[in-house]
Amino acid sequence: MFLTLFLIFLYFFFVFKMSIIILGIESSCDDTSAAIISDKRILSNIIANQSVHQAFGGVVPELASRAHQQNIIPVVEVALRKAKIEKNQLDAVAFTRGPGLLGSLLVGASFAKSFALALGKPIIEVDHLKAHILAHFVETEVQIRHPRFPFLCLTVSGGHTQILYVDSPSKMEVLGKTLDDAAGEAFDKAAKTMGLPYPGGPHIDKLAKTGNPKAFSFPEPRVPGLDYSFSGLKTSFLYFLRDRLKENERFIEENLADLSASIQFTIINVLLSKLKKAMKQTGIKDIAIAGGVSANSGLRNRVNKLANENDWNVFLPQLQFATDNAAMIAIAGYFKYIEHDFASQDIAPYAKSIL
Ligand code: KG4
Ligand code: ZN
Repeated sequence: MFLTLFLIFLYFFFVFKMSIIILGIESSCDDTSAAIISDKRILSNIIANQSVHQAFGGVVPELASRAHQQNIIPVVEVALRKAKIEKNQLDAVAFTRGPGLLGSLLVGASFAKSFALALGKPIIEVDHLKAHILAHFVETEVQIRHPRFPFLCLTVSGGHTQILYVDSPSKMEVLGKTLDDAAGEAFDKAAKTMGLPYPGGPHIDKLAKTGNPKAFSFPEPRVPGLDYSFSGLKTSFLYFLRDRLKENERFIEENLADLSASIQFTIINVLLSKLKKAMKQTGIKDIAIAGGVSANSGLRNRVNKLANENDWNVFLPQLQFATDNAAMIAIAGYFKYIEHDFASQDIAPYAKSIL
């Protein structure tokens, strides 16, 4: 009898207490998100998108901060409820410290600090770009392979484009990065030039599926080393359309699918040529792709094809973890929690990348 009770106690102790439960908060741009993880396993991941920016063709920082302020408490409440977790069961609160829009980051950081302070729990500051990479380690019902350290990561988002050498959850080295626009920006600006709504990346992706990627060609930038540049491509796309529209004012609408497929093809060529170079330089064949643009079906297909042809190990994030989400903040927080790497209450957000 005593032994049975003891075993039941042990079972509950290990199942319910030994796991580390983290609330993650993401508010770096225009998505307000809260997620709960238990160790690496996701219990909830709630995202409130801000449709207010669509009318402006891009994110308006002041409107973004205001919408975060309205969304943050309801989003956290839903995340806790969906995860069936009480506030006092949380072990820590992780939040995005940067990079991002300062006004947006301040909402998430201030919420995380006061919420944790009221609960008497530690806070964990998370770098948004590292979190995109660590999203690969979130566990869900779907069994997926996780990358093994060290690996290379191509992080492609709306604000950043980088190739990193990832040695551990905390040790990452940037091998190359964009000197101007990010890959996501190249998608969004090309889409805007064609009159598509913001964010344009997913629209180009969809249209490209029925277009010919070789219909039009655009010059690929020549940048030394492993760095990128996308601003020239954006300009040549703009001038190309301006010239064609002079001859035919319906040029864009008549060629929308081919234009989308061609610009997408060029952006992917640029991304992959530097990635291949980085693999050659480092001898690493384990590759992860992260960030919003990793949702692009053209990029995913091309990377998978190259992997099959060249014997690479490629890791693509599940779509829910490709674009901004708080599950990636929570998992990055988990890795810091096990290192007892906590932040103090006087910590302030940063707008620019520190990687
Ligand atoms: O990582 P993310 O959600 O936010 C940032 O940290 O910037 O990335 C957003 C970017 C936007 O530029 C968006 O257009 C792009 O990711 N994106 C895509 C796709 N889904 C999102 N670009 C191309 N194809 C997609 N399917
Ligand atoms: Zn992001």
